[in-house]
Amino acid sequence: MTNAPNNRPEETLDPQDWDAMRALGHRMMDDMLDYLQNVRERPVWQPVPEEAKANLSRPLPDDPQSAESVYADFKRDVMPYPMGNIHPRFWGWVIGTGTPLGVMADMLSAMMNVNVGGGAHAAPHVEAQVIEWCKQMMGFPAGASGVLVNGASMANFVALNVARNAHSGFNVRQDGLQGHTPRLRVYASIQAHTCIQRAVELLGLGRSNLCSVPVNADYQMDITALEQMIAADRAAGHQPLAIVGTAGTVNTGAFDDLQTLADIAERENLWFHVDGAFGALAAITPDSRHYAAGMERANSLAFDLHKWMYVPYDVACVLVRDRDQHRQAFSVSPDYLSHTERGVSGIDLWFTDYTVELSRSFRALKVWMSIKEHGIEKYGRLIQQNIDQTRYLAGLVDAEPKLERLAPAPLNILCFRYVVPGMDDAALNAFNEELLIRLQESGVAAPSNTRLNGRYAIRVANTNHRSRREDFDLLVQTVVQLGDALAAEQR
Ligand SMILES: Cc1ncc(COP(=O)(O)O)c(C=O)c1O
Repeated sequence: MTNAPNNRPEETLDPQDWDAMRALGHRMMDDMLDYLQNVRERPVWQPVPEEAKANLSRPLPDDPQSAESVYADFKRDVMPYPMGNIHPRFWGWVIGTGTPLGVMADMLSAMMNVNVGGGAHAAPHVEAQVIEWCKQMMGFPAGASGVLVNGASMANFVALNVARNAHSGFNVRQDGLQGHTPRLRVYASIQAHTCIQRAVELLGLGRSNLCSVPVNADYQMDITALEQMIAADRAAGHQPLAIVGTAGTVNTGAFDDLQTLADIAERENLWFHVDGAFGALAAITPDSRHYAAGMERANSLAFDLHKWMYVPYDVACVLVRDRDQHRQAFSVSPDYLSHTERGVSGIDLWFTDYTVELSRSFRALKVWMSIKEHGIEKYGRLIQQNIDQTRYLAGLVDAEPKLERLAPAPLNILCFRYVVPGMDDAALNAFNEELLIRLQESGVAAPSNTRLNGRYAIRVANTNHRSRREDFDLLVQTVVQLGDALAAEQR
């Protein structure tokens, strides 16, 4: 070891004892696989105890701790208290379950630790391959482009940025929106995910220019209302910019009529974007692909791979039909990022030209490995299995007089509540909220909640490749038991 001019010995973060690190790594891998293999035996969820919270609130450490004891801290305070989403009876929000090979792929990607913002190395080719596969899955044309991002919120934001820059008719990148008078208007249903609102806000369009279109009884965008809103906006001197259709709404899994939205967008010369965070994956199922018909006509499409492709967090995809428009919306070419013919910069495709991030992780690897491991047809079958299980659950709920279904369940989301005869909606809302929390605290199952027409709903969203039909039997039995007990307490 040489001494630096300040006389401190030079250091590195690599281990001094590689054999010990290797042994620890093997132990971690065994623990991880045990954890995944036995997930069904544990409670779905349990609260983080006060002691663990206290351990997680310690000051910045000055002194080193061995890797073994850091891992012991993790096993004591973190690992036993997961969100629960890898468990077969977790059905909250819309959250994916991951796979063992996906876990290992993430480790491999961290080991390579490449930056997929740019540069000539294998990882951008893997990402390009994954994008090509995504285009095939979604029926997008060969000339389309795409990029992987961290989630559908970001994917929607990226897509709407392309829409704003490519379709507003002036140079937004150069001039901004400050001097632009006709208001640029974006149309999405009132059931659209709030990330659309956030994108509209972040793009400087202003929330008041996100036109919330009402929905019909099936929670689909009301087409007549949309057409009237566009016409009224034109009459008022506004500039309609984009229609955002939803393929699978977060509340009920409803699909907007994407064919008709595509027709309207074409006729009105509007950008047509589809938020297909999870529902877009219906396109690869054997029996439910018709829901997504019209999606392939979109100018841009956002969807997650960490939800209904069961890839570990976080990864989503945005596809844009016109590659030039996509690139022109983001590309910047400072000298320090110039692309060359040869050497480490010698590649044309720099993913930073297609999104907001410069530094980007190798999130493509877990998608690439997962799709190769199982083949796309198995994914289609599993997604269909989730849809079929949700129909099975709907049958159980419909057959149980103490339960009431609150919305159609076309896809993988079912909303229902326990009913107590004579109780009004306000009391039922409070009742079902308490029931759901008790269900989650029981560790048996973890749906989440929403409100539909003012009614509190227990909401099951099934993107879980580990769920089996008997898990839904147990869910219904437990909801009824807990509901009966709560009703008895309140009498
Ligand atoms: C329809 C829809 N769009 C967008 C999102 C946001 O996705 P993410 O959480 O990956 O950002 C969700 C999340 O559930 C969703 O259901």
